[in-house]
Amino acid sequence: MQHQWQNDQWKASMKLRYDFNNMMEEYIDAGLQAKRFQKKVGAISSADIDELTPHIERAKKSLRAKWGRPSKMMAWTKLPFNQKTIVEDINATAKRVNDNFDTFVVLGIGGSALGPIAIQQALNHLHYNELPADKRTGARLYVEDNVDPERMAALFDVIDVQKTCFNVITKSGSTSETMSQFLIIFDELTRRLGEEQLSRHVIATTDRKKGYLIKIANQYNLKTFVIPNGVGGRFSELCPVGLLPAAVCGIDIEELLAGAAYMDELCQEDNLWANPGWMAGVLNYIAMAKKEKNVQILMPYADSLKYMADWFAQLWAESLGKKFTLRGKTVHVGQTPVKALGVTDQHSQVQLYTEGPFDKVITFLGVDQYRTVQPIPHGFSDIPAVTFLGGHTLNELIQSEQAATEYALVKSGKLNQNITLPVVNAFTIGQLLYFFEVQTAVCGELLGIDAFDQPGVEEGKNATYALLGRPGFEAKKEELNARPAKQEKYIL
Ligand code: PA5
Repeated sequence: MQHQWQNDQWKASMKLRYDFNNMMEEYIDAGLQAKRFQKKVGAISSADIDELTPHIERAKKSLRAKWGRPSKMMAWTKLPFNQKTIVEDINATAKRVNDNFDTFVVLGIGGSALGPIAIQQALNHLHYNELPADKRTGARLYVEDNVDPERMAALFDVIDVQKTCFNVITKSGSTSETMSQFLIIFDELTRRLGEEQLSRHVIATTDRKKGYLIKIANQYNLKTFVIPNGVGGRFSELCPVGLLPAAVCGIDIEELLAGAAYMDELCQEDNLWANPGWMAGVLNYIAMAKKEKNVQILMPYADSLKYMADWFAQLWAESLGKKFTLRGKTVHVGQTPVKALGVTDQHSQVQLYTEGPFDKVITFLGVDQYRTVQPIPHGFSDIPAVTFLGGHTLNELIQSEQAATEYALVKSGKLNQNITLPVVNAFTIGQLLYFFEVQTAVCGELLGIDAFDQPGVEEGKNATYALLGRPGFEAKKEELNARPAKQEKYIL
């Protein structure tokens, strides 16, 4: 069967656009009204980029040497190309799930949850779970990425465990949040259905060898998908972590991977000025390292892309927020990601973005063609301030508001950039995920840090183990107990 993504013309028509005009001095300085702020604006010039050429070339060489290598945690770059058999297994498993269950629950957190949430929101009906079964493309999906006890109780109120398949996802196979959720589900299933039903109801996605989940999976004969070596949590959306929940919900995972492969091709381009992922990495590096832009706002103008901002926030924060360079120098780098939604947050955050400090880059995530057109009817002809809306569409309104916000930001000298998807589909979402991954890896390389570890998260994880009495963490417990006691005078 010929897929649309195998057609070059269709592929080109679906190409993601990265527009960085509003990062550049020609555009932003020209649009800036109060010229006395020009210095603070920190617009980027071609000379800023040219000056970096030797640094960029070194980074290119070094990143190319790591490309695809599991030992460098860069095996995510292979995912668009090396999963044919796994995709077949995933699709067959998804069919089995949909033949036997009406609900699919993901237990996971961070990189094991944010991708499945973002993909589902982007590619399925915005009220997918509320649709009747015959209007849905698969089982209902719940992604439980917190250990709030009320949320767990609420889940049991809306699912029937007999009709539910659970997918436990953890790369390390030992994350407390995920394992405690699993203990609850394990107990519920064994008590209500018996231990012999476990392998019917639970699928594990984890490391081939490391951690405890794989041991449990083997012991109880659970269907298991492997998170490949050299693919870290936040870079794992395009492996079984994200692909299985997506397939269960009827998403075309081959198209998703084809989109990522297309972006990989675009990001292999040697000329920086024709390479979207690298250019985005370089510009965001300049913004944070040379122009004091400490905040990165990702503002999708589409509800379908709302949770892409959550997924991106983790990728950007955990990958780039680092204390040390690879050579051990203390640097404390990173850029704080902020999630916003257009137009909703125009009425809450944009005031700050236009008039507040010059410390941000605002990234718009737009769509050329929404998947539906919603006309605004004529009415209230005696009220000119309302009647002018009639005859337009919500599509025109949301796109005009995006253009207007962009204009207002340029006028007030705030760096911003635009990523546009021709339409939201599996192919363009695959491109978008991969684009952000490349941008992050490039930025990390230019910063000279390890973009693929997360020592700051590990510290918190270890402290939790200590507080809950996990064997082997006695010394950590002592360290915690030795911290100064809190003083009443500072608690009101
Ligand atoms: O990106 C990462 O590695 C982390 O955010 C992890 O995804 C998160 O901590 C969950 O870890 P695990 O998948 O091992 O349970």
